[in-house]
Amino acid sequence: MTFPTTRLRRLRTSPVTRNLVRETQLTRNDLIMPLFVCPGTKVENPISSMPGNSQLSVDLLVEKAKALYDKGIQALLLFGIPEHKDETGDVACQHNGIVQQAVRALKKEVPGMYLIADICNCEYTVHGHCGTIVDGDVHNDLTLETLAKQSVSLANEGVDMVAPSDMMDGRVGAIRKALDKNGLYNTPIMAYSAKYASAFYGPFREAAESAPKFGDRKTYQMDPSNSNEALREVALDIEEGADIVMVKPALSYLDVINRVKNEFNMPVCAYNVSGEFSMVKAAAANGWIDEERIVLEILTSIKRAGSDMIISYHSQDVVDKL
Ligand code: PBG
Repeated sequence: MTFPTTRLRRLRTSPVTRNLVRETQLTRNDLIMPLFVCPGTKVENPISSMPGNSQLSVDLLVEKAKALYDKGIQALLLFGIPEHKDETGDVACQHNGIVQQAVRALKKEVPGMYLIADICNCEYTVHGHCGTIVDGDVHNDLTLETLAKQSVSLANEGVDMVAPSDMMDGRVGAIRKALDKNGLYNTPIMAYSAKYASAFYGPFREAAESAPKFGDRKTYQMDPSNSNEALREVALDIEEGADIVMVKPALSYLDVINRVKNEFNMPVCAYNVSGEFSMVKAAAANGWIDEERIVLEILTSIKRAGSDMIISYHSQDVVDKL
């Protein structure tokens, strides 16, 4: 049937029909809010390139988590800024590590909040790379050991889910094996499966103090030109035991999100990263865009592309509009 019998504007005439036929509904259940924890008490270091986000000491992190929980945020992704860094990221595996302290406090004070720990070494190593350096590059198999150790340590402290973001080969399998060996078989793994070597992480590296001191991350993170390779990454992570697979960043990779969702019958997460966030904030600060509408459109588009859940720094601003 074609025009004039068919008129697609007919169902757009009323807000009610628009509601009835809406294909994608963004809800607060879809959102995960990232937070940064740092040493000290009463410390709040605003991240200049990410308005509304700060490094927070454990006490203020707990306050922030309570406020977010009351607003309807049910899950956090935690990043740590440690007091001291070392060569291998072993500081991230200690009972008194910064994220470990945060997890204990959060589980006590905001027990309903679901805690996801980013698993990586770049915030914890003096060189800022995501693993152990041998001969000027990250050594894959040595790094698996620290990633597994960090995962077990955090899960033992009460973290609900671990999310390895390092892009080493075989890390999902190594982490699954280590968790199971320690009786942590109910701790899910959300794998940063298709993580690209992206310039969109710029503001995050200020936030997490994790910029590499030499070179870049191109020997482990993916080339932005590739999407068949993303499917191979995802397939391997699923085989190794990933419970959720992630595509990161989100906006320049909506095609990858869509391919992953269509190819695999798996829960998909997308990370709406720091640079994507900062661009919106900068334009909004200049009065060039309607921030609220833009953010809802962005998050809805990520979901429409096929993501079941979204990690976004916008979560705290939009949760009470859903
Ligand atoms: C750690 C990690 C990074 C991000 C999440 N986990 C940075 C990186 O790979 O350099 C980026 C998040 C963001 O930009 O919001 N490896």
